[in-house]
Amino acid sequence: MEKLIIEGGVRLQGTISVNGSKNAALPILFAAILPEGTVRLSNVPDLRDIHTTLRLLEMLGCDCGHEDHRVEIRPGTLHPEASYDLVKTMRASVLCLGPLLARIGQARVALPGGCAIGARPVDQHLKGLELMGAHFELAEGYIIGQCRRLRGAHVTFDMPTVGGTENLLMAAVLADGETLLENVAREPEVVDLARFLRACGAQIEGEGSSCIRVRGVSSLHGTDYAVMPDRIEAGTFLAAAGITDGDLLLTNCPYEELEAVILKLNSMGMDIRQTPEGVRARCAHALRGTDVRTQPYPGFPTDMQAQIMALMCLAEGASMVEESIFENRFMHVQELARMGADIRISGHTAMVRGVDRLTGAPVMASDLRASASLVLAGLAAQGTTQVQRIYHLDRGYERIEDKLGAVGARIRRVPENA
Ligand code: EPZ
Repeated sequence: MEKLIIEGGVRLQGTISVNGSKNAALPILFAAILPEGTVRLSNVPDLRDIHTTLRLLEMLGCDCGHEDHRVEIRPGTLHPEASYDLVKTMRASVLCLGPLLARIGQARVALPGGCAIGARPVDQHLKGLELMGAHFELAEGYIIGQCRRLRGAHVTFDMPTVGGTENLLMAAVLADGETLLENVAREPEVVDLARFLRACGAQIEGEGSSCIRVRGVSSLHGTDYAVMPDRIEAGTFLAAAGITDGDLLLTNCPYEELEAVILKLNSMGMDIRQTPEGVRARCAHALRGTDVRTQPYPGFPTDMQAQIMALMCLAEGASMVEESIFENRFMHVQELARMGADIRISGHTAMVRGVDRLTGAPVMASDLRASASLVLAGLAAQGTTQVQRIYHLDRGYERIEDKLGAVGARIRRVPENA
């Protein structure tokens, strides 16, 4: 295992290029099972979860090539089994359910189980697929699905689930007839998946709204496609500019998709704006506290909650953070407290009181975005911060120490026992 050692107190200055989106690339990789031809993807981030997904696709019978930020997938004779040893490391593996049922009428996928931030059930995925004609059995920790040919259905989700929407969208494009999906997730990553599927010949309308209509087709063809930029990686770097009172220019930054985040950061005292060269982020004045409630898109994203909380720790005044999406997404709070933060949790709400300074300390990463929050705090803290178990961080950030180091951060990756 490895850790990051950060000497805080440097104001970050310079340019950072934003990578392709992890949460768009993952469903699009699984959707590459659907076409009968070759899929060539560009702007694919080089992350652990991407490598895991490519291994899973090969286990399912696809031939995958991966070089730099480009991936090529040629579906072969597909097998239905996604084994537990891979699925347990990445719950997004459940996204192979819809494509497998659509292509070969069977799937045997390990139940993903929960993770640090919550139970992460998949009941909405299964309910929707059953309405489309799939039958499921749960045995030995596996979801075993069968269907002759999926048929179009009218599915209304209990909540706007990102993964549920993506699984049903991938199932519907080859189903017999028309599918209407209501109360769907409106996240940009869902829109990117729909655009990819349309490039393969799928007939889809309404992505980005709360209702998606799909007319099933008999087959899909291969395509070349560029994955959208990662709005959460970009948001994390915007927060890095704020917490260090720096001045960063982000290129390939998805400005429109970050509206809720940018509004909140600017309300705290940042000055984030579009320029011809990219999105420029600095502080207009000392940061002030604000209130945040995480919401499905276009509301404030839960994946930016831990990062903005790090900023609030050093803002003047008090801030309230309500986590309405996941039941246990405050794992970063205790670690921030070890650095001197003043945070009180009551149920799904955290009250943050700004302090004059944070002090460096050894802290433990617990999940992907909590890790990012600790890195941000370390950049601003006085002294040395050691962020341990950064395999969590590597799931969603490609060599974050190189990107931050290039804009002045004193940060290095070393073996955990160094
Ligand atoms: C996606 O997870 C993202 N992951 C998450 O990002 C993100 O936090 C989440 O959407 C919310 O935006 C990927 O895209 C790979 P959901 P997903 O289904 O699809 C409940 C990161 O940091 N629910 O929208 O699993 C669920 O418990 C990761 O990059 C059910 O009850 O999220 C949660 O409370 C973390 N039943 C809420 O819906 C279901 O069948 C939202 O979950 C499905 C979901």
